[in-house]
Order: sequence, then structure tokens, then C-alpha cells
Amino acid sequence: MPEPRNISPDRVVLGLETSCDETAAAVVTGKREVLANVVLSQLDDHRPYGGVVPEIAARAHVEQLDGIIARAMNEAGLGFADLDAIAATAGPGLVGGVMVGLVTAKAIAAAARRPLIAVNHLEGHALSARLVAEVEFPFLCLLVSGGHCQLLVAEGVGRYRRLGSTIDDAVGEAFDKTAKLLGLGYPGGPALERAAAGGQACYDLPRPMLGRENCDFSFSGLKTAVRHLVEGLGPGAPSTRQVADVAASFQAAVGDVLADRCARAIAILQREHGGGSLVVAGGVAANATVRSRLEELATAHGIAMVAPPLALCTDNGAMIAWAGVERLALGLSDPLDVAARARWPLDAAAAGRIVSPRRGRSS
Ligand code: KG4
Ligand code: ZN
Repeated sequence: MPEPRNISPDRVVLGLETSCDETAAAVVTGKREVLANVVLSQLDDHRPYGGVVPEIAARAHVEQLDGIIARAMNEAGLGFADLDAIAATAGPGLVGGVMVGLVTAKAIAAAARRPLIAVNHLEGHALSARLVAEVEFPFLCLLVSGGHCQLLVAEGVGRYRRLGSTIDDAVGEAFDKTAKLLGLGYPGGPALERAAAGGQACYDLPRPMLGRENCDFSFSGLKTAVRHLVEGLGPGAPSTRQVADVAASFQAAVGDVLADRCARAIAILQREHGGGSLVVAGGVAANATVRSRLEELATAHGIAMVAPPLALCTDNGAMIAWAGVERLALGLSDPLDVAARARWPLDAAAAGRIVSPRRGRSS
């Protein structure tokens, strides 16, 4: 793969991610080399509560981040003096955790006399495709995670236009809640996908927003429909077979909705820019059914679909380091007093509009 245009290949950036329940550090170069990518999941800490507890997350980040950074630097075989910049997620997210990563990045930047780059977590997800593939701006980005569900046109680094977003739950949240309802445990997305693999999409579930003129999403009705379906299955239900079939039916409905919403957005991209590609990012992009539905859709529209490898779909430090590489190439860095932000929409025009309050995240 050729080196990305305008980015010095010898640039090396450390990226820190602490906005939710992963403590992560990675070292990435301008040549798209991931020299280290260390992710520590706090899943076991939060599992007893069935979701992320902000105080537990922040404390775990405090306890673990130094060790995770040391491991990443060690794996990369570098010292802080070898870095060109230190990037950290500065929001949106659970602000206690964001502060831990950002303050640590500031300390390293000050001590090593290197620039600090405050990265928007959503931009990290959006640009992760450019770390793994030749994706030119403008591209369409479907950002689907536990806290976010939106369609954006990425016109350049720092330049995003939101075409639509969820009016209620994020799609990852719908996966998590549906999985909980089916007794599949936490985190729900991967568990539901595994259960669905043995099932048939035989139940008729609603496809909210299908055919609507805009590019918005809605998932709370689908989640409620699953609850009614399961309640109506009778005593002793659901059986393992029924769980698998409900999970497969839910996934099929999600696939239809995402494909329909993306079809609208692709039409806008093609009308305005004459082409581009479809990037799918965020934890739900790890789902094989979602990926293949969107791949089919992109092929039918004559555009490429790019989804990062699974490890780069869920939260990680490499996407933050890469966003740092991209910003550094444009001469963008931040002062040491830059603040952590619980809310930070990617699209300036959307500032102030809360989309999904789950886990303290909004966009
Ligand atoms: O991007 P991410 O790691 O964190 C946020 O920024 O939210 O996304 C986590 C979300 C969770 O809701 C999780 O259930 C979902 O992504 N997820 C999946 C899969 N893997 C993770 N959803 C469906 N299928 C998967 N394989
Ligand atoms: Zn994320």
C-alpha cells in the first residue's frame, strides 16, 4: 500500500484511549505501521453491574494506564524522546476516564517536550479506515458503537458533516439491551452475534425508519418489539433455539435498517461529490452480518466499503495515535491546558444537540 499523501513516514505518535471501558495505548507511524497496540478491557470489572460504571472505569484507568503505556513503548522499542507527538482522546466520553488519559498525555508531552494532540474519539474511529486502507476524502462514515450511531461525510481531517444520527438508542446499545433481554450477558454485541450464528431469521421484527427521506436512525422500537416477542413465546421460553432465532432476526432487522439508511447517504455522497467510499467504524462494525450487508450495498452502488479489522473497530489506542499522525501532518496540535470534554460533536453545526446519553457519551 502506498504511503499516505502529505504524511511524513518517519513520524511516530503515541496514542492513549481512556474514554470508556478500555485502557489503551498504541504507537503508530506515518507509514501506517502499528508498532504496538495494547488494549486492556475492563469488562470483568463492569460485568457484575451489566454496564459500564463511570467511577470504576476512571479508577481502573488510573491504576492501569502507566503500565499499559510502558508495555506499548517497550513493544515498539522506543523511548518518549523518539516520539514526534503524544495524542490522547479528549472526548467525548466518560469525563473521569478521559481526564486520566489526557492528563497523562500532557505530562509526557511536557516532560518529552513534544506536541500534545487532543483527539476527538469519534474522529479516531472515522480515520481508522485510513490507517488500514487507501481511503481518500471525501468518504461516507457510518459510525456505529455503544454510544453513537451516525452517518457523516468526512470531507477532511477535522471537517465532518453529519447527515443523520439516532433519535433514541445507539445501535450498539440496542445490541447490548437485546442481548441482556435474551439472557446472553454482557457485552451483548459479540454474544448476540455468536447466538445468531445458530439461528434462522424467522421472526418478523420492525425496521424502524426504513424508507424515510432523511438519514436518521431509531432502534428503541426494535428493542421493544424483541421484548414483546420474547414475552409472547410462552412459559419456559425462550429456548436455546428460540434465542438463536430471535438473535438472528434482530441482526437481520439491524442489517436492513443500516443498509437502508446508508443507501440514502450514499445517494447524497454521489450527488454532491460524484463518488467516494463507505467507511464503517465503531464496535458494531465488528459484526459480520452488518459488514456483509454493507459490503453488498456498496458493491451495488459501485463504491468501496472499508471496515477496519476487528481489533481496530472497538476502542483502541492505534486509532487515536493515527488521528494524531493525521493532525500532526497538518500542523495541528493543542495547548497543554486543553480541557477534557464529556460532549464533543464531530460536526460543528450539531454542537449542543445530545444524541445518546448512554454511558455519559453523546455526540
Ligand atoms: O466502539 P466501541 O468499542 O465503544 C464505544 O465507543 O461505544 O463499541 C462498543 C459497542 C458495544 O455496544 C458492543 O456490544 C458493540 O460495540 N459490539 C458489537 C460487536 N462487537 C462489539 N455489536 C455487534 N456485533 C459485534 N460483533
Ligand atoms: Zn468508540
